[in-house]
Amino acid sequence: MLTINLKGKTAIVTGVSSGIGLGVAKVLAKAGCNISGCGTSVENSKAALTFLKAIKEEGTEALYTCLDVTSQQDREHLVNKTSTTFSQIDILVSNAGINVFKGAKDCTEEQWEFNMSLNLKSHWALSKLCKPYLESSNNGVIILMTSNHAYHSIPGCFPYNVAKTAIKGLVQSLAIEWGPKIRTVGIAPGFIDTPGNQKWFNSFPDAKAERQRTINMHPVKTLGTTEDVGYLCAFLASDMARFISGTTYLIDGGRSALMQD
Ligand SMILES: NC(=O)c1ccc[n+]([C@@H]2O[C@H](COP(=O)([O-])OP(=O)(O)OC[C@H]3O[C@@H](n4cnc5c(N)ncnc54)[C@H](OP(=O)(O)O)[C@@H]3O)[C@@H](O)[C@H]2O)c1
Repeated sequence: MLTINLKGKTAIVTGVSSGIGLGVAKVLAKAGCNISGCGTSVENSKAALTFLKAIKEEGTEALYTCLDVTSQQDREHLVNKTSTTFSQIDILVSNAGINVFKGAKDCTEEQWEFNMSLNLKSHWALSKLCKPYLESSNNGVIILMTSNHAYHSIPGCFPYNVAKTAIKGLVQSLAIEWGPKIRTVGIAPGFIDTPGNQKWFNSFPDAKAERQRTINMHPVKTLGTTEDVGYLCAFLASDMARFISGTTYLIDGGRSALMQD
């Protein structure tokens, strides 16, 4: 039987207090990985405790740190705490991010700077701090979370889509400059069934109808789950993906294959 085995490895996953990060952390733990997670939620919050409980249930070790990935001091704290606790870092899943949807005309300089700091710079800066540890690993892997907005966008999603498009370039640069010891891969999720997206459906007069309308735009006739992204992550982090680096994978249920009419 073919299985993904990450037993004994340690992964940093950012943004585990909600959505995709939590799903990714759970799947990596299911594959045997210890997880050092973070988010802005405080350490005894329901979100942090949910993460810790989920990893414990998979039988591996977990660590949660409340921090802001846009702060260099906080990023250093995360990497130091992880290496002190687990003595190694094999996988970085740099996932934390927020939709900054302002529009090219209305976006302020502050909003632009915030978006670039969180949705682009934090991925590079955290990768740089993890580099020496990943190089000491047998199969150091960096996975950067971008978006289907890196390929096609919608009016009003600026400047988020600009940062997410740039992540594809970051993936290429890290792969060609830091290989062969470290592989770098991007994941570009489409519509994933997260609390944030449910909140968006709820903003419509008929949330159920809007959800169904969105589902119908997907050839697979479903939304993605956070675990769907986790399974791709687990594969890309494993030795089975040793020939994969410098590229970004769309995981969008076929939505982008459908031409507009
Ligand atoms: N959901 C989708 O359909 C979708 C599609 C394409 C791409 N993505 C990308 O996937 C990633 C996760 O999105 P999501 O939908 O799962 O979002 P989410 O449910 O809002 O979760 C975001 C996570 O990031 C953390 N976070 C946000 N800002 C942070 C900061 N400054 N420092 C540390 N942690 C921070 C949050 O922590 P707290 O909650 O504790 O503040 C939370 O754990 C993002 O990069 C997003 O752009 C999502």
